[in-house]
Amino acid sequence: MLQASLIMETIKLYDKEFILSIPPARIQEAVARIAKEITSDMAGETPLFISILNGSFMFTSDLLKNIGMNCQVSFVRLSSYQEVSSTGKVTEIIGLNEDIKGRSVIILEDIVDTGNTLENFTGQLKLHNPGKVRIATLLLKPAVFSGNIRLDYVGMEVPDDFIVGYGLDYNGLGRNFEGIYKIIN
Ligand code: IMP
Ligand code: MG
Repeated sequence: MLQASLIMETIKLYDKEFILSIPPARIQEAVARIAKEITSDMAGETPLFISILNGSFMFTSDLLKNIGMNCQVSFVRLSSYQEVSSTGKVTEIIGLNEDIKGRSVIILEDIVDTGNTLENFTGQLKLHNPGKVRIATLLLKPAVFSGNIRLDYVGMEVPDDFIVGYGLDYNGLGRNFEGIYKIIN
């Protein structure tokens, strides 16, 4: 039997304190809603979910448990390096083993802040000639977002505070919590 998990009101990671901001039940509602939208939009297809590690592991797990159709999932990492020219950051996708040519792909991201990560990622992905490309992000910080990409599925909009939990980390800590916590000091 599953043990009821303990929902902490505050957590401490290194020197910083964080307070519960989005309780697990609200996260699960948002995840279930995205799953429903995807299920109806992708009816008759066998989509490939591409989950961006590390932050998206919990979102990916919960979302896929709510997807009733046949689908595949692949986990990728992004490695960024500074290009010498003025174009700045270039992202390389590591771990994409599937042939995505012509496939319906749904990118899964934990949080979109400026949008740079996803803009780089979708640019790289398109070099592999996928079919439909959709983006699902659990969280969006609209005040900071300036990306030139369409976010097809957004779980929740959040203020521009630093948050952790549910996959999101502060220097590697905090990913394990079921709720989302915002920094207080
Ligand atoms: P972007 O490229 O600015 O959109 O940033 C996206 C990435 O930054 C996400 O995938 C997260 O890994 C990280 N990130 C952005 N905001 C936060 C936050 O509040 N807490 C933890 N990580 C964040
Ligand atoms: Mg991330």
